[in-house]
Amino acid sequence: MSGLTSIRTSGDKIEIINQLLLPHTTEFIEIDTIEQAHDAIKSMKARNPCIRGAPAIASLAALAVASHLSRALQASPTPDFLSSPSALQDHVEPILSFLFTARPTAVNLGAATRRLSKTLQSSVDAGKDARLIAQDLIVEGKKIDEEDVGRNKQMAKWGGEWLVGQVKQQGGSGDSLNVMTVCNTGSLATSASDFSRYGYGTALGVITYLHETGKLKRAYYTQSTPYHQGSRLTALELQTMKIPSTMLCDSMVGSLFQHHSINAVVVGADRIAKNGDTANKVGTYNAAVLAARHKIPFIVVAPVSTVDLDVADGSGIPIEQRPPLEACLVRGALYPPSYDGAGVKEQATVMVTPSGLEGVYNPSFDVTPADLITAIVTEKGVVVKGKGELGFDLSGVV
Ligand code: MRU
Repeated sequence: MSGLTSIRTSGDKIEIINQLLLPHTTEFIEIDTIEQAHDAIKSMKARNPCIRGAPAIASLAALAVASHLSRALQASPTPDFLSSPSALQDHVEPILSFLFTARPTAVNLGAATRRLSKTLQSSVDAGKDARLIAQDLIVEGKKIDEEDVGRNKQMAKWGGEWLVGQVKQQGGSGDSLNVMTVCNTGSLATSASDFSRYGYGTALGVITYLHETGKLKRAYYTQSTPYHQGSRLTALELQTMKIPSTMLCDSMVGSLFQHHSINAVVVGADRIAKNGDTANKVGTYNAAVLAARHKIPFIVVAPVSTVDLDVADGSGIPIEQRPPLEACLVRGALYPPSYDGAGVKEQATVMVTPSGLEGVYNPSFDVTPADLITAIVTEKGVVVKGKGELGFDLSGVV
């Protein structure tokens, strides 16, 4: 249990941890409106609250819809959009479309908004009145958030056990594993809005499972620039859980593989195409190429909902391009940090480039082709490629 959570709720109140201030300051920010939820998902701006990680952004969107409707049901006078099923539909559909546009790559957000849209339509078709339809949407929204915790634990166990088995098959003991990861896929990236439970994470969940079962020697994680999900968030999660770990710059992965014995690379995913091509934090592809060169198993860990059967291969996955300025800025505590109460008070955003750079390439994700992926772990089990095959067949998994 990490003790860190991305979202917490109490009744209709939603708060998100301000990931921009982590790891130095723990501050929760209330999300009161659909617009604030959209902004929190979309923005990684210096002064905006921010939530990221594919499952967590889907959870926030679903919870924001649930909270919005729950408040409307209690409001006096009753808002006009609760006057009829069609008025409710006309109100909710644009909200779902708006939330869907916040970030394009992670399939979870689209899956959550589509699921709510389907609930809306089937409740309308069932002839329910507007208040009952709103109730159905509230239940569904909360369910989307709640489902994440159990499945993450299941994935972690499948992935951990499979990896230990693989290492044993190769003649190793399987009880002293070095595992590298990219970005942040732990409790801060996943859902667990009930503050008494914490998200377990996907790839970081596998590392946590190996640690909890005494099989992990050390976790390695890349900084994951330019947003530093690794050095700011994964570092904090591993430190909080007291898991032995080592940070490296993104450019040091080849050196790590040359000079250290690494048993596996485990990463999360924002979208997995039907053939197994996987979009994840930029830098994942580099790690996969290097892992293949060094014959290190490369494992993708993600819930079934991350598999998008409508996309045949990676070329169909939309890749979010972040604003150029974000790659020129680094945010953190002034050094040396001085702590008081909740954490470091003096945080700053500094520019690490000349200002007004003409060209900056800043994709948020890259696609790792399926042929570089050894196994895909979901809550349903571990999928490997057929002998000699370059891609996976994920149609039976979803
Ligand atoms: O831009 P981010 O921080 O939202 O990117 C997050 C990742 O790439 C994660 O690896 C992915 O969403 C899986 S999180 C369980």
